[in-house]
Amino acid sequence: MAETRDEPLVLGIETSCDETGVGVVRGTTLLADAVASSVDEHARFGGVVPEVASRAHLEAMVPTIQRALKDAGVTASDLDGIAVTAGPGLAGALLVGVSAAKAYAYALGKPLYGVNHLASHICVDQLEHGALPEPTMALLVSGGHSSLLLSTDITSDVRPLGSTIDDAAGEAFDKIARVLNLGFPGGPVIDRYAREGDPDAIAFPRGLTGPRDAAYDFSFSGLKTSVARWIEAKRAAGEEVPVRDVAASFQEAVVDVLTRKAVRACKDEGVDHLMIGGGVAANTRLRALAQERCDAAGIRLRVPRPKLCTDNGAMVAALGAEMVARNRAASDLGLSADSSLPVTEPHVPGAHAHDHDHVHEVSKDNLYS
Ligand code: KG4
Ligand code: ZN
Repeated sequence: MAETRDEPLVLGIETSCDETGVGVVRGTTLLADAVASSVDEHARFGGVVPEVASRAHLEAMVPTIQRALKDAGVTASDLDGIAVTAGPGLAGALLVGVSAAKAYAYALGKPLYGVNHLASHICVDQLEHGALPEPTMALLVSGGHSSLLLSTDITSDVRPLGSTIDDAAGEAFDKIARVLNLGFPGGPVIDRYAREGDPDAIAFPRGLTGPRDAAYDFSFSGLKTSVARWIEAKRAAGEEVPVRDVAASFQEAVVDVLTRKAVRACKDEGVDHLMIGGGVAANTRLRALAQERCDAAGIRLRVPRPKLCTDNGAMVAALGAEMVARNRAASDLGLSADSSLPVTEPHVPGAHAHDHDHVHEVSKDNLYS
């Protein structure tokens, strides 16, 4: 879509995990995507440490906002709204972003939009491929979530068809990388090793793919155990673990199930578009196999570039801009972070949703509630 001046200019803040992301978009056009990551500080612990993440967000917040505005070539007073991830995510980490967004919204007299992290992972594709078709089937695969979602309007209607009953896809990548001593986060490094391995070397199980299993649910815990046992047995026998083949075979088991179920959901629901979002959507093999299977089924595949798949602020700004464009109610300044915000709630209007023009009249008292 061509950029026009009257499309909403929105700044988005993302702090649900370990990236402090601040993006600026105009309508569906990406203007800036600034990210400060604390991943190196977590690596030695083998996972994200919530307190460390919150602290890093606090330090990175203002400089990252300033960098995003500068990169976008706009000033804060030009903005039509401030969007922020209200959940789901780490409570303390979310709180830093929500507090910052409230402070900026209050100080600037701009409407505030508390949005859902998961819906943002879907909406971000508008920055790459233009307006989302309605309905859109979305396969959302991240460190905390794996779901198949059907949406007729990303600002108001996201319906889960199925989700993981145990581990999320990204979590499985992270755990297997740990067993293989490849470091954290596991997804990118397994992706790299797998490129040089044989995906058919070891036949790992495909969870929940039997005829009686729930068609759209996922399970990666059995796979994880199976891979870990296989590695242990090799080590116990004093044999070398073929890391590249294990990575490739494990990855193939994950992406085979993800793509098979996603294509099936599209066919069953008569939806001819599949969108894949979330950190795991950056996976090279997932992207390739999804393309192959969608082509064979006559489904159009939309996957954002890898940098927009992992957590970032532009995705939050993209959903915020869509909220403004569709005249959704702004959140009030009493907005609070909700670490377990359900995927069915794309945005959090707050207990007393305000008209945009009145947002600056909200009392300072509820700024910190
Ligand atoms: O969406 P995201 O950045 O954060 C959450 O909302 O969870 O997803 C992070 C997850 C991590 O588990 C990470 O290992 C995984 O996405 N990931 C990948 C790749 N890049 C990131 N998984 C597989 N292949 C990748 N290339
Ligand atoms: Zn995410």
